[in-house]
Amino acid sequence: MFVNTAIYPFISLVFFLNTVLHFPDSIHLMPVTTSDLRVSIPFCKTTGQCRRTKGPYQQTMRLFIQTKPHPVAKHYFPYFQSLNRYYMPLTVFQKLCFRITYPFLLLCLQPFCVSAQQTSCTPVSLKCEYLVNPLGIDAAHPRLTWQLQDTRFDAKQNSYQIIAGTDSAEVSKGAGNCWQTGEVHSATQLIVYAGKALQPFTRYYWTVQVWDKDGHPSPLAPVSSFETGMMESSNWKGSWISDSRDIHLKPAPYFRKTFSLDKKIKSARAYIAVAGLYELYINGNKIGNHRLDPMYTRFDRRTLYVTHDITSALQTGKNAIGVLLGNGWYNHQSTAVWYYHEAPWRQRPTFCMDVRITYEDGSTEIITSGKDWKTALSPVIFNSIYTGEHYDARLEQPGWNEPDFDDSKWKEVIFRSSPSNHIVAQAMQPIRQVEEIPAQSVNKINDTTWVYNLGRNIAGVSRIRVNAPSGVVLRCKHGERLYTNGHVDQSNIDVHYRPTDNTDPFGTDIYILSGKGTETFMPRFNYKGFQYIEITSSAPVELTKESVTGYFMHSDVPPVGQLSSSNPTINKLWLATNNSYLSNLFGYPTDCPQREKNGWTGDAHIASETGLYNFDGITIYEKWMADHRDEQQPNGVLPAIIPTSGWGYEWANGPDWTSTVAIIPWNVYLFYGDTTLLARCYENIKRYVDHITEISPTGLTTWGLGDWVPVKSKSPVELTSTAYYFTDATILAKAAHLLGRKSDYEKYNALASKIKNAFNNKYLNTQTGIYGNGVQTELSVPLFWGLAPDSLKAAIAANLAKRVQADSNHIDVGLLGTKAILNALSENGYADLAYKLASRETFPSWGWWIVANGATTLYENWPIDAKSDISMNHIMFGEIGAWMYKALGGIKPDEEHPGFKNILLQPYFVNGLNQFEVSHQSPYGAIVSSWKRDGKKITYKVIIPPNTTASLKLPVIQKQKLYKNDMLQKITGNSYTENLSSGTYVFELK
Ligand code: BGC
Repeated sequence: MFVNTAIYPFISLVFFLNTVLHFPDSIHLMPVTTSDLRVSIPFCKTTGQCRRTKGPYQQTMRLFIQTKPHPVAKHYFPYFQSLNRYYMPLTVFQKLCFRITYPFLLLCLQPFCVSAQQTSCTPVSLKCEYLVNPLGIDAAHPRLTWQLQDTRFDAKQNSYQIIAGTDSAEVSKGAGNCWQTGEVHSATQLIVYAGKALQPFTRYYWTVQVWDKDGHPSPLAPVSSFETGMMESSNWKGSWISDSRDIHLKPAPYFRKTFSLDKKIKSARAYIAVAGLYELYINGNKIGNHRLDPMYTRFDRRTLYVTHDITSALQTGKNAIGVLLGNGWYNHQSTAVWYYHEAPWRQRPTFCMDVRITYEDGSTEIITSGKDWKTALSPVIFNSIYTGEHYDARLEQPGWNEPDFDDSKWKEVIFRSSPSNHIVAQAMQPIRQVEEIPAQSVNKINDTTWVYNLGRNIAGVSRIRVNAPSGVVLRCKHGERLYTNGHVDQSNIDVHYRPTDNTDPFGTDIYILSGKGTETFMPRFNYKGFQYIEITSSAPVELTKESVTGYFMHSDVPPVGQLSSSNPTINKLWLATNNSYLSNLFGYPTDCPQREKNGWTGDAHIASETGLYNFDGITIYEKWMADHRDEQQPNGVLPAIIPTSGWGYEWANGPDWTSTVAIIPWNVYLFYGDTTLLARCYENIKRYVDHITEISPTGLTTWGLGDWVPVKSKSPVELTSTAYYFTDATILAKAAHLLGRKSDYEKYNALASKIKNAFNNKYLNTQTGIYGNGVQTELSVPLFWGLAPDSLKAAIAANLAKRVQADSNHIDVGLLGTKAILNALSENGYADLAYKLASRETFPSWGWWIVANGATTLYENWPIDAKSDISMNHIMFGEIGAWMYKALGGIKPDEEHPGFKNILLQPYFVNGLNQFEVSHQSPYGAIVSSWKRDGKKITYKVIIPPNTTASLKLPVIQKQKLYKNDMLQKITGNSYTENLSSGTYVFELK
């Protein structure tokens, strides 16, 4: 219940009189609230007790001062009870000052209070297809989403209306010529465009208005836009072209074309589809800040095109377009164990481009790729996405991408067939150079050898600036560790490389100087995983610490998670987990950025929750699931790595790895509340599950790799693989239910029960509550994945706890066990023990890497001196990042109300940790869960975003009292549960 804003003046008057009459018993400041209006009260600072919230709280910051709750306020404004209160023991002098100044302050603020309340619900953060104002989307029915800015208690969206049209001025006034939904009574903040059929190459503007919990309309959101691209392959006008060279030729080709424009340009777009990689230039300038475009796909099944706004790059008069093509995964010349060099799609890179220009007079013109382009070889004399890039600066052709360049010596291009029948928009966050990392130190080994240390492990590139004579050759070798003699050691990452000669050294760029002043080199078509760079030159050079810089590259997904705690190891672990997650996100999730760069399925589904808690990565996952659909065999089988040139259909592709097809769409559904990906993958999941059923008639399957890279104990492959088979069947049944496929729902539900029974019959000793031999993975996997019978969960969990204790409170798991162990413990009454494992700093543990080796990323193996599987930037043990959110922060999505429409809130105030705070930007806004221990008292603070609810469960120790916003709460049993509306709450357990 909240009062109508019209009575605010009256309320203020009541407060005014009340304050004057009753001061100093009660002092109330109206909650003038929000980031728009900050009020600074000098007394707060002097007493030091008025804490203003920072960071994630800022949106809901309110200032509210009182000496004790006022009965009138309490009666009329239950809202006030949800606010943070700040108590100020006042001196007589302060009280006097307040008595004089406060009434005036109140009167001054009153108009702000009224206007703030009248516009307190505003739709913000409008996105289309989960992107901000995207260009070149192909979706005929794009998804539109927004958030609410409404800091009031119990803020809700009663209804909404969408306005979409082609005229932004009209849309901003509430009129759209494409779609006007009118007021729709619904709380959803995700809708699918259903207006007039969208036309290609058209910019659409849209806005949304919402009605708040009292039925008051908000203002229209600031107008947002999306622009369609090709939409249909038949809209392409250009031709696929390349040079006439074969796949073995090493130098990368340049392409150019000039043209004249004589009218005033209103807007211009370049649509460029490439098999391989590209850089696009107009009139000498590089277009855009993307790196390694387009993203890797199975090129012969789906090829991506990218749209660039080139309006400001073009000029009236003569123009030149230049394209430099790289090999990427399309023309893989390096030789390694996955046979990319034998990929069925392998060809010299090729592209197709349409430049669409709209003039001020309304006319349009299209410049296309075709026979009128010319080509030549570039100074990029070798490029491999896997190993490195070589550049001979002496071969540069200054001005090659400018209008007046003399290209008379350049060659004709050739027509090529389209690499696939599906040329589709790259509708996702691109790869960028997200962070610049200066070298921390440099070690000059001799006049020609320098070793740089970035101080942290990254994926990306290094850039070198150097001054030396023409012809001097620099080799820049990258690695994650050093030999004792100070040189870069690649022996942990070059093991799968099978070079045929010494011209293509691993992880190494080669630069040949032109001798023309200070030269800069950074590879265009390669990235590496590294911390150290060893520069060797063919003649002595002078370098400084500043000569080399690192650039952290990855898919530029917006961060949506924040975490901090009183334990520095936990904080470092969280950062290391995110560093490894991002180092392994390059348009598809990879295992490691140095040794493989493979889309290993198992690593990715294990890390998907960690990714989703921390980054807004839906666009990457949606693209990668399309890669899955491209790779699936008619019988349902998927390869172990996706995309693949063909390798991986025979090994490591059982359900413990390739359940990505079910688990990732399901997790995306839980985190975004969007069924699109589940629906797109539904038939694929079904074919996949049906295949496992076909080869596993008993309900048990031995298809899989098992608990990869375990500490010591091995668990049966059948146990772990069957758990994933069960998970897939369960997800499929739930998806069937959601998508209204009743008979499938019944069928796969029954299948899930059959698998569960077979699993428990074979592995569970119902007398002892022990699975198999009772090692950690065997006990935690069935608990975590829901195979353990409810009646025996407590016994199994107790056995797991005993097992962990017997293993001297250390983990003894591999990849599949790490997914389960911490969750199985914390979800079943052993959160303290889970934390003990998670925060361990002795071997084997995550903290061991951090403390003993200064790790800034996660490793592939538990011992630091292991002999194999020793990448130092693997995400596969990364579930710990998600566990911190789930158990310490207690934030989980509710599958009944996904997308955090309802939040499951169950933090554990674990022993040994004094403070923990986590926030997650959900589709509805920031969820904050934060707690602090002070002696025996725990203060728990939570923010529930507008238009959502939370099911809170707090652990309560016997005889503890619980206060919610200072009011004593009734507790029955050893936990406190409550359904919370949106707002800010402070609980105290003491
Ligand atoms: C990868 C792993 C992967 C595994 C599967 C390794 O080479 O780096 O992360 O999951 O193979 O067997």
